[in-house]
Amino acid sequence: MENIKNKVIVITGASSGIGAGAARKLAALGANVVLAARREEQLKTLVQELGDNSIYVLTDVSKRADLDNLVQTAIAKFGQVDVLWNNAGIMPLSFFDEGHVEEWDRMIDINIKGVLYGINAVLPHMLQRGEGHILATSSVGGLKTSPGIGVYSGTKFAVRAIMETLREEVAQTIKVTTIFPGATQSELGNDITSPKIKALYGNLKGMPKMDEEAIANAVVYAISQPGNINVNDIVLRPLGQTR
Ligand SMILES: NC(=O)c1ccc[n+]([C@@H]2O[C@H](COP(=O)([O-])OP(=O)(O)OC[C@H]3O[C@@H](n4cnc5c(N)ncnc54)[C@H](OP(=O)(O)O)[C@@H]3O)[C@@H](O)[C@H]2O)c1
Repeated sequence: MENIKNKVIVITGASSGIGAGAARKLAALGANVVLAARREEQLKTLVQELGDNSIYVLTDVSKRADLDNLVQTAIAKFGQVDVLWNNAGIMPLSFFDEGHVEEWDRMIDINIKGVLYGINAVLPHMLQRGEGHILATSSVGGLKTSPGIGVYSGTKFAVRAIMETLREEVAQTIKVTTIFPGATQSELGNDITSPKIKALYGNLKGMPKMDEEAIANAVVYAISQPGNINVNDIVLRPLGQTR
């Protein structure tokens, strides 16, 4: 695909789920992919699978210096960053009366600050080049909330506000895309500790879910547009998801 081949695409949260799936698709289309996450074993295995046009950089998105290092490493290896996709996120859901404050803190640090640190790390480079594309993964939880998802949803509403403001500020030169997935198969939620949420999820076991390729296709669509087309928001749910 003309607009993807040879692009340098940095993906956070690339060690599993949505990020790993999209990395496979983008690499197959000829992109140079820079994979970021904390789990080295998964990243190493993926880079071995994808080959020479991929590297990984161990990155904790809650640490500003790690995002700076990620972008600088990508530039050092491939000469530039065309696309940064702030995709890393966690979802340890709970109800407010359970008081899981430490999990709230981690969601804020990873889901919100991680996106901000990514933007901060890459924006000067893209502005200086006069082009670039920044994506982030929000969620349908960034469009509406419900009991038990208050803090996660709050972080995803924040991602939506941050990305829309970024779009308005840099619309002359830089593309800005926010992806709002519905339920998708991945490891998300494996870190849920709340008994109330686990009971709820038990009842939702048979709920419809998209596979990761559905999100990869949406990202490919956004990235592969001609230079003058800026795809801003993509909302996608599996058929049957009502929320
Ligand atoms: N699956 C869904 O139904 C769904 C729906 C809407 C939105 N989303 C969003 O999609 C994004 C990807 O999630 P997923 O569904 O693919 O879940 P996943 O399989 O759990 O993937 C999450 C990714 O984020 C990374 N990550 C977590 N904390 C990190 C940190 N501190 N620093 C760097 N990387 C970190 C994980 O890697 P390490 O653990 O190796 O660091 C992993 O690669 C998230 O933002 C999520 O909120 C998912």
